[in-house]
Amino acid sequence: MSVDIAGLKLANPMMTASGTCGYSTEYADFVDLRRLGAFVTKSITREPRAGNDYSRVVETRAGMLNAIGLANIGLDAFLAEKVPQLEKLGAPVFVNVAGTSVDDYVAVAEQLEQVPVVRGIELNISCPNVKAGGLQFGTDPEQVRHVTAAVRGACRRNVLIVKLSPNVTDIAATAAAAVEAGADALSLINTFTAMAIDVEKRRPVLANATGGLSGPAIRPVAVYMVHRVYTQVTRDANVPIIGIGGIQYARDALEFILAGATGLAVGTALFADPTCLHSIPEGLADYCRRHGFRRLTELVGSLQTA
Ligand SMILES: Cc1cc2nc3c(=O)[nH]c(=O)nc-3n(C[C@H](O)[C@H](O)[C@H](O)COP(=O)(O)O)c2cc1C
Repeated sequence: MSVDIAGLKLANPMMTASGTCGYSTEYADFVDLRRLGAFVTKSITREPRAGNDYSRVVETRAGMLNAIGLANIGLDAFLAEKVPQLEKLGAPVFVNVAGTSVDDYVAVAEQLEQVPVVRGIELNISCPNVKAGGLQFGTDPEQVRHVTAAVRGACRRNVLIVKLSPNVTDIAATAAAAVEAGADALSLINTFTAMAIDVEKRRPVLANATGGLSGPAIRPVAVYMVHRVYTQVTRDANVPIIGIGGIQYARDALEFILAGATGLAVGTALFADPTCLHSIPEGLADYCRRHGFRRLTELVGSLQTA
């Protein structure tokens, strides 16, 4: 089951999707997080953020919408209060980093270089760049290139993962920009901008009006995007993909692996059944046994299309 993410060997491909498993202790009563390949934290920003007003989450027919607004305790409190807990976790930690300027990302990445339990930084680029007029970093290849290159300069020890937004015309363009600027790995996808309306009140359900759609509804699009990025960008560049989007069962995870993902992160499914973090790798091992594969990695990108 072991996988290699840019030179970092993980016991298995399973990870938590950023923002869906807190800082680690929140789910400790339900799952044995030591059995994860890696734990991915919620987005951390330079300064604390209160996040958006409530309602911030709503269930939809095949997933959920969230507009948390990057609520988090900020870098200083994260280092003082959460890192000691993460040191006891027994799994490698990837810290997801968010910001509203390139300087924000670089400042957080620099400090995380000094924290041994942190082995990787995942850039959440689905954030508005305040200096560039509020346009999301992740929707413009030039901004993706700029922020990735800047953090690359500050990130020498940690694996640098760039998390791609699906809210683009061609995700291969932003993927290529991240890889050319020095990303060690890509994770995809983040949520789709979406909306739910309370027809009785004739108002948006979320206080923020719009939110990010996740869960089973997005899985086929996410699988397609992993396939596109793998075939157009990362296979030749030898850059691993962490597949994210509606994974709940081993067969979902297998779709991502066949499409080209080496790692897997689970988000929305944790709200329904956190134990899927254990049942998915068991199902993957069973599939390998039934089909005569000795290593999970033999399956990566092995989709037959001809
Ligand atoms: C409640 C919630 C909070 C999230 N917070 C973050 C976050 O802080 N940073 C981030 O990069 N992605 C965040 N995401 C996106 C997830 O990490 C993931 O990319 C997305 O939900 C798709 O995976 P899923 O369908 O398995 O949930 C969040 C998703 C949800 C549902």
